[in-house]
Amino acid sequence: MTSMTLSKALSNSRIVAAYREKTPTSEKRHQKALGIFPGAVTHDSRYILPHNIYCDRAAGSRKWDLDGNEYVDYHGGHGALILGHCHPEVMAAVHAQLDKGTHLGASTELEMRWGELVQELIPSAERVRFTASGTEATLMALRLARAFTGKSRLLRFRGHFHGWHDHMAFGVTNHFDGTPTPGVLDEIARNVVLVDPNDREGLRRALAEHDDIAAAILEPTGSTYGQVPIAPAFLKELRAETKKHGVVLIFDEVVTGFRCSPGGAQAALGVIPDMSTLAKVLSGGLPGGAVVGRKDIMDALDPAWAQATGREKVPHQGTYNANPVSAAAGVKTLEILKSTDANKRACAYAERLRKAINQAIEAEGLPWAAYGTFTGTHIFTNANNLPGVSPKSFDPLKFDYTQLKAKRGSDTLTKLRLAMRVNGVDLSGWPGGPASAVHTDNDLERTVGAFRKSVRMLRDEGEIA
Ligand SMILES: Cc1ncc(COP(=O)(O)O)c(C=O)c1O
Repeated sequence: MTSMTLSKALSNSRIVAAYREKTPTSEKRHQKALGIFPGAVTHDSRYILPHNIYCDRAAGSRKWDLDGNEYVDYHGGHGALILGHCHPEVMAAVHAQLDKGTHLGASTELEMRWGELVQELIPSAERVRFTASGTEATLMALRLARAFTGKSRLLRFRGHFHGWHDHMAFGVTNHFDGTPTPGVLDEIARNVVLVDPNDREGLRRALAEHDDIAAAILEPTGSTYGQVPIAPAFLKELRAETKKHGVVLIFDEVVTGFRCSPGGAQAALGVIPDMSTLAKVLSGGLPGGAVVGRKDIMDALDPAWAQATGREKVPHQGTYNANPVSAAAGVKTLEILKSTDANKRACAYAERLRKAINQAIEAEGLPWAAYGTFTGTHIFTNANNLPGVSPKSFDPLKFDYTQLKAKRGSDTLTKLRLAMRVNGVDLSGWPGGPASAVHTDNDLERTVGAFRKSVRMLRDEGEIA
């Protein structure tokens, strides 16, 4: 396969030309990767035209590509690295464990310490079961909820992402009518009820119409780490309504867990779910996940419970569950979060960043806004040219998911991200990204300077007014 053909706007773009000039080695690697990986990438979110950057090292808040370009990084290991790249204490813990063995095929004290820390920090974690990823955690949470309630259906919110397994694959970036994405069975899609975020009536209707809902799952601060925020009152109502209807409420805290606060979004917002799914920060930048929750629900994994109740247990295997290297990184990361102000520092940086980007947006006279909660920054680029958008008065709760997630013509967004890279900043595709506890004043200055330069580059080639 060759690369996708560039649109006219991209092939004639001076921004794309500047990006190519700055990243020739990455372009060569991309050409080779086309013969190895479908689309040349190993994660959909790493797909960007004309090619992604190839990086080989990172430290703190920065990373470097194969051409030696340095970037202020707002990917943060897809949200996993709240302590930044290569935190010295986390690295030391990983190195020490590597010398002791990468897989012991046995229970370990390390996994016990890791589980205890999760219990101490996450309010809903009466019991813990480790998995190898966030996707596996949401899959297991759903299965446990079904086994516990004896009901089958899953309630989800449009735009919320919970990994890529069959029950979670549609209604995230498309298929908002609930039809399955390619490869997913109709029968599975029919078992899922989709509700609009913050739609109280829709929620009540769904719960009244279906008496077979086993679980409701959501990203507690809103989809894509609060890009479409969940109103605090809606979250409380969801808690009350699910309790009333005997529906297991699952907070997907794969991103928010240990990030919004050491106790995740649930501790920060004061709403406690029945179960939670965790990953990313949980294992300090290495692969890992966990499903945690009420003892009476989690008991379905316990052979002694099966013996005592005469019910069949829920099976769960997984070669890399609680693998010792991830456990070592996870234990050290959680200990640091528990004993320092790292969460607060990351949140404070993000707040200053949002404010500084908004000042730049205002100075450039753009109908855009930067917003977000906790460590998250989202740049709303007003794809639908909605009137009255100003960084001073922007309230994302006044917009729905179709408006907040609308891409300002994908070429514009691509150009913004490429221009930011040309100017030394790598944004997540939201566009925006999670802050870490090690982003500095200098990073902030560089980011805002790059943003202003990038906006002018877009303007110079007529991409924005
Ligand atoms: C909210 C949320 N849930 C689940 C997942 C899936 O986690 P993983 O990529 O570890 O499978 C992600 C990944 O980005 C996520 O953001």
